[in-house]
Amino acid sequence: MSNEIILEARDLVKEFPALRAVDEVSLPVHRGEAVFIVGPSGSGKSTFLRCLNMLETPTGGEVLFHGKAIAGSSASINHYRCKVGMVFQHFNLFPHLTILQNITLAPVKTGLLPEKKAVAEAIELLERIGLADKAKAYPMQLSGGQKQRVAIVRACAMHPEVLLFDEPTSALDPEMVGEVQNLMKELAAEGMTMVVVTHEIGFAAEVADWMVFMDRGKILETGKPAVLMNSVNPRIRDFFSKVI
Ligand SMILES: Nc1ncnc2c1ncn2[C@@H]1O[C@H](COP(=O)(O)OP(=O)(O)OP(=O)(O)O)[C@@H](O)[C@H]1O
Ligand SMILES: [Mg+2]
Repeated sequence: MSNEIILEARDLVKEFPALRAVDEVSLPVHRGEAVFIVGPSGSGKSTFLRCLNMLETPTGGEVLFHGKAIAGSSASINHYRCKVGMVFQHFNLFPHLTILQNITLAPVKTGLLPEKKAVAEAIELLERIGLADKAKAYPMQLSGGQKQRVAIVRACAMHPEVLLFDEPTSALDPEMVGEVQNLMKELAAEGMTMVVVTHEIGFAAEVADWMVFMDRGKILETGKPAVLMNSVNPRIRDFFSKVI
């Protein structure tokens, strides 16, 4: 853990026509931290995460990366997204590309790595997750857990400084949840900076340096898991009493 703030939301707001989904949220993320965001359905967790990656344009406040506000131009957003990767609930692998091509596409296209090096690194990543034999397979030939692990190493192939995860295990069969969580635990232990939205409270409690509770677009409380889960706030107590 360090004191260096890599990523920071400041008074972030996202208004939809009928609703303020994210309501003046401020959150600093320090290098090496695993920050887990929990809270009821519809509380704005995904919208907040999407704003952090500029998939949604915030309507107020700002996102700072290494202390600099992300500018609105597509060039600067693309540059930023190379550094801040995102893993989705439904994997979002390219169905028409092989597993290897899925992993090498972005590093080669953005000029991060020459093709040969990208392939070598992709194979290393696949070996790490025990899927080197699937390099030439297509996503539809993989299980959900395998696809999600590929999606995670695909994000890692860009050498990101931060990884954002939106409910990475909620679309998986229960027996595949563990393999994905184990990979995430390994990344956290290696010092990857991570912001994770999840409903898996036990997993969050085990891995999180900080747990953030969102409700109705706002952060109600942030704390170490053991502290937040014993919060005196009735709204938070009620939530945990239902999900644990
Ligand atoms: N594109 C959109 N247009 C209008 N309203 C939206 C849009 N996206 C999200 N919302 C609304 O914003 C609110 C927050 O949604 P969000 O998906 O961020 O919640 P969440 O905390 O991720 O919920 P869940 O745990 O169910 O995934 C919800 O009321 C949702 O209906
Ligand atoms: Mg969500």
